[in-house]
Amino acid sequence: MRNSKIAGVGHYVPERVVTNKDLEKIMETSDEWIRERTGIVERHYFEEGVDTTSNMGAEAARKALKMAGLEATDLDMIVFATLSPDYVFPGSGVLLQRELGIKEIPALDVRNQCSGFVYALSVADQFIKTGMYNHVLVVGSEIHSSGLDFSTRGRGVSVIFGDGAGAAVLSPSESNDKGILSTHLHADGEFAEELATIDPGSNKRERLTHEMIDEGSIYPYMNGNTVFKHAVTRFPEVIQEALQQNNYKPEDIDMLIPHQANLRITSYIQQKMGLPAEKVFSNIHKYGNTTAASIPIALSEAVEEGRIKEGDLVCLAAFGSGFTWASALIRW
Ligand code: COA
Repeated sequence: MRNSKIAGVGHYVPERVVTNKDLEKIMETSDEWIRERTGIVERHYFEEGVDTTSNMGAEAARKALKMAGLEATDLDMIVFATLSPDYVFPGSGVLLQRELGIKEIPALDVRNQCSGFVYALSVADQFIKTGMYNHVLVVGSEIHSSGLDFSTRGRGVSVIFGDGAGAAVLSPSESNDKGILSTHLHADGEFAEELATIDPGSNKRERLTHEMIDEGSIYPYMNGNTVFKHAVTRFPEVIQEALQQNNYKPEDIDMLIPHQANLRITSYIQQKMGLPAEKVFSNIHKYGNTTAASIPIALSEAVEEGRIKEGDLVCLAAFGSGFTWASALIRW
């Protein structure tokens, strides 16, 4: 079976920047608390009527296609990862397809939150490996800011998340020593409600009530301590799994791109893996946690900044709601 490679990457973030100081004006929080606990300084929020989850994804996709030297019409499939789709249904994949002006190729939506991009990448990789498709577009895009509780009640969650999109175009690799070497996916539904938005769900006779809005169950809930504890275990575990499968050691990694959950989690992973800071990519200070978009935005920036070069060993790793966690090892 042939390998797939990442032929192009791109990202897009909405124009509006919201700083910690801006958040201080609307809830009881402080720049110091947010920086100290998360490393976040600012994030981007969408503009209603301008940005949507699907059109931000399309913008990132256009850049990725350009880098890959392909047209949208060359694509064989779209895999779209998001927890914040434009509509309840249909998924954002078909909207992105329409936005790119292409018809009839399949568009698959992936719902695996912070691990969504690596899950989507793995799906795309399998289609290329089997020879079924040649060029697959993988997108992660999120608009969080329209679904957060900006009162003091929601501060533990709302200060963390930001909006943005990233994309990658996968194509067949020229050799089996290059491209995506392996992907590793995991989940543990035992902890499903520890990081979740419960309402409006289909399991209640009335999906949306005034009580849900008043009680705040329409907003994301996060048990921060539990998420933190599991994240710092699962990240190193799934990175090691990828390295072992390919007979590499942590010191062989040229660039580790962890999901941008929290700077403290990233620093912990860096220390645990024994990697120097420059080999672990971080941009959370600029964007906050953009869930499915965080890894492709980081990957796109790392390539743009020349921090990933041909031949480098790149590891992507994610952990998030579900709980789900995943990794991908790539010879660039
Ligand atoms: N501003 C100011 N104070 C805040 C705040 C905010 N934005 N959010 C919470 N607080 C307060 C709490 O109310 C609490 O106050 P109390 O002691 O009076 O009750 C205090 O700060 C400490 O809260 P706690 O939740 O114990 O803080 P923490 O040190 O555990 O940090 C997180 C909270 C969320 C930063 C931390 O748990 C974390 O990083 N978790 C992982 C989150 C993550 O990465 N999620 C994404 C996974 S994909």
